[in-house]
Amino acid sequence: MIPNELSLPLPPAPPVGIGVAMTGCGSSVPEVCVDNDTLSQVVDTSDEWIASRTGIRQRRLASPEVSLTTIATTAAQNAIEMAGVTPMDIDLIILATSSADDLFGSAGRIQAELGARRAVAFDMTAACSGFVFGMVTAAQFIRTGTYQTVLVIGADVLSRWVDWSDRGTCVLFGDGAGAVVLQANESDRLLGFELCSDGRQHQSLNLAYKPEPKALVDGVTIAHGTYHPVTMNGQEIYRFAVQRVPEVIEKVLYRSGLTADQVDWLLLHQANQRILDAVAQRLHIPLHKVISNLAHYGNTSAASIPLALDEAVRQGKIQPGATIATAGFGAGLTWGAAIFQWGR
Ligand code: COA
Repeated sequence: MIPNELSLPLPPAPPVGIGVAMTGCGSSVPEVCVDNDTLSQVVDTSDEWIASRTGIRQRRLASPEVSLTTIATTAAQNAIEMAGVTPMDIDLIILATSSADDLFGSAGRIQAELGARRAVAFDMTAACSGFVFGMVTAAQFIRTGTYQTVLVIGADVLSRWVDWSDRGTCVLFGDGAGAVVLQANESDRLLGFELCSDGRQHQSLNLAYKPEPKALVDGVTIAHGTYHPVTMNGQEIYRFAVQRVPEVIEKVLYRSGLTADQVDWLLLHQANQRILDAVAQRLHIPLHKVISNLAHYGNTSAASIPLALDEAVRQGKIQPGATIATAGFGAGLTWGAAIFQWGR
């Protein structure tokens, strides 16, 4: 029997405010770890090539029994616990992903697994920018006073969508999930943001549908195909990232009334160490302020920022009040940045 949600007890009303604070984070990765040497049994590559061009040394890959929902739910539970809220406090769940278990969306299943019965849940796709886009979307709902407590999850299992015979792409990606809880707060900890897209360059990085004509009845032909694996023009994406990411961060810093030397941590989408270094250099941010964990996980797409955030917070590197400049970039093409202070 479907319970009558209106009869469920409401949680105590949290303080109403127009500010947004990030009060919890969590992450989860599959157990199976594959290093570069092992990958050289799959494609013609080497640890030396992958590490020197990307900084990646190993990645986690999801076994068949592991679903996106499983790792996303665990990441979400960890974030909820750190925030000190309960699943019933959550008003909205945004799942940023490009590799949902179900094309109709996986957020609803995560909602069910969490027991977040008061929440509304939906998927959102902006590839590797998905987490930043999700976080900014969540903040709008909070700032309008519509919702008080929002869970934003970034999760991807791109190992299911790469071409394992294409050494130019398959070595880059890994699977994982990260999540944050955003809450209404008296002080606004989201200092600024900017989201961008340029569909004219969409062909540089694709996971596109490949239509196969299927004659249904006389005179009616529809498309009934499958998805291509990930295709990428690596050099175009590299150029795009090192130009657009510093640009958008500089813009958001300016709008936030901050300068780059006031940034405590630069937390970029973990695509490639060379991109991280080039962006930091252009912003004159010293490398010791750059959060990097891609050596262990590769590019986990929408998961990479909350996964790296969670590790840095749990290691005690990121302290309450720290000013973080974050930026996502990737397919679409999409890119975006946000400056926020960790904690209430
Ligand atoms: N192992 C060994 N050799 C490889 C290889 C691999 N995994 N992948 C490609 N190569 C070879 C190429 O075949 C090419 O060989 P050739 O010169 O004999 O033709 C050579 O290495 C150089 O390839 P190229 O593609 O020019 O390398 P690159 O210096 O541009 O580095 C990337 C490739 C992918 C590492 C780099 O372009 C990059 O990081 N781009 C950004 C990608 C990214 O971050 N995407 C996700 C964004 S969200």
